[in-house]
Amino acid sequence: MLFFDYFCTKIFSWCRIMNNFADTLIAWYEANGRELPWRETKDPYRIWISEIILQQTRVAQGYDYYERFVRRFPDVFSLAEAEEDEVMKYWQGLGYYSRARNLHAAAKSVAESGAFPTDYKGVLALKGVGEYTAAAICSFAYDMPYAVVDGNVYRILSRWLGIDTPIDSTEGKKLFAEAADELLDKHRPALYNQAIMDFGALQCVPSSPDCSCCPLAESCVALQQGRVGELPVKLHKTKVSNRFFNYIYVRTRTHTFIRKREGNDIWRNLYEPPLIETGKDLSDKDEELFRKVEELLGKAEGLSVRTIKKGVKHVLSHRVIFANFYEVILPKEDSRLEGYLKVSIEDLYKFAVPNLVSRFFSLILEPNNQKM
Ligand code: ADE
Repeated sequence: MLFFDYFCTKIFSWCRIMNNFADTLIAWYEANGRELPWRETKDPYRIWISEIILQQTRVAQGYDYYERFVRRFPDVFSLAEAEEDEVMKYWQGLGYYSRARNLHAAAKSVAESGAFPTDYKGVLALKGVGEYTAAAICSFAYDMPYAVVDGNVYRILSRWLGIDTPIDSTEGKKLFAEAADELLDKHRPALYNQAIMDFGALQCVPSSPDCSCCPLAESCVALQQGRVGELPVKLHKTKVSNRFFNYIYVRTRTHTFIRKREGNDIWRNLYEPPLIETGKDLSDKDEELFRKVEELLGKAEGLSVRTIKKGVKHVLSHRVIFANFYEVILPKEDSRLEGYLKVSIEDLYKFAVPNLVSRFFSLILEPNNQKM
């Protein structure tokens, strides 16, 4: 512990000597930074929305979602009053749907309290807001001196300071949080935080950064030591598991069946057609699959299962889903499926569904558009 403190002191005194870090970043940002709609406001609500969208989404993808979202829900009260299904629909395609559920729940509690929190503790207490997002909101909206620390910041600081302490270790988290705080321009926290975000997104990128045009090249320890490609160090790789899904589009002539996904996974509260999840891939085991379909639907006369597509691979951050798509046409128009909503096929687009299901519906409903 003593060594750790000594080490930190050394590094940070060096930071102070090199205190043109912030000035250099800000000068770079003024020449190269992106003009983005959430940078043109001080409204904490809009900044909050943008930060939640950008938590796991790149700016290029998040931009239109942000514009649509704040057009429909221009303030925290309109969001609080909305039905969750509608909020989810506005989120459809962005992934990490717990963000939308948390956003909605937090909007309700803010609306109840009457106003958006105005201090760090209050912002941090909002559902779905962690230290990074609270620092971003408080610095951008209120000019409070909180440094953002995210993947971009870990990368920039580990390289510039030449620190190989793993960023996902307790020691690393503490060290980088302290370094970030030390380097923050306390007089211009909003500008500094925007600058470091863009610097990580555009200049000090994860692989093959162009260090020849980097304004921090001369003082970058990793560059001097030829270790840019090695930093930052991360101990644990994300564990990815495989899952095997078989979706069945069950339909009558005019209607189909969907239900809201329950349980506590990432797609909770999104809609989906009947799903048979198996422990292994069934794409070449039609008999087994057909038996499971019969278990689901009952042995109806003249029931046949049509294969729409097999072996669709859908990659998420923690899992890879291998999906097969089937269609079953029920002969009777008044058929029901216990536990499922019977919806007009024309209305299917109104329901928020995971991307994978949306791809399936496109294959069924727009068979000429076979891109998968
Ligand atoms: N990523 C997270 N927050 C961001 C912001 N405010 N601007 C650009 N990229 C971001």
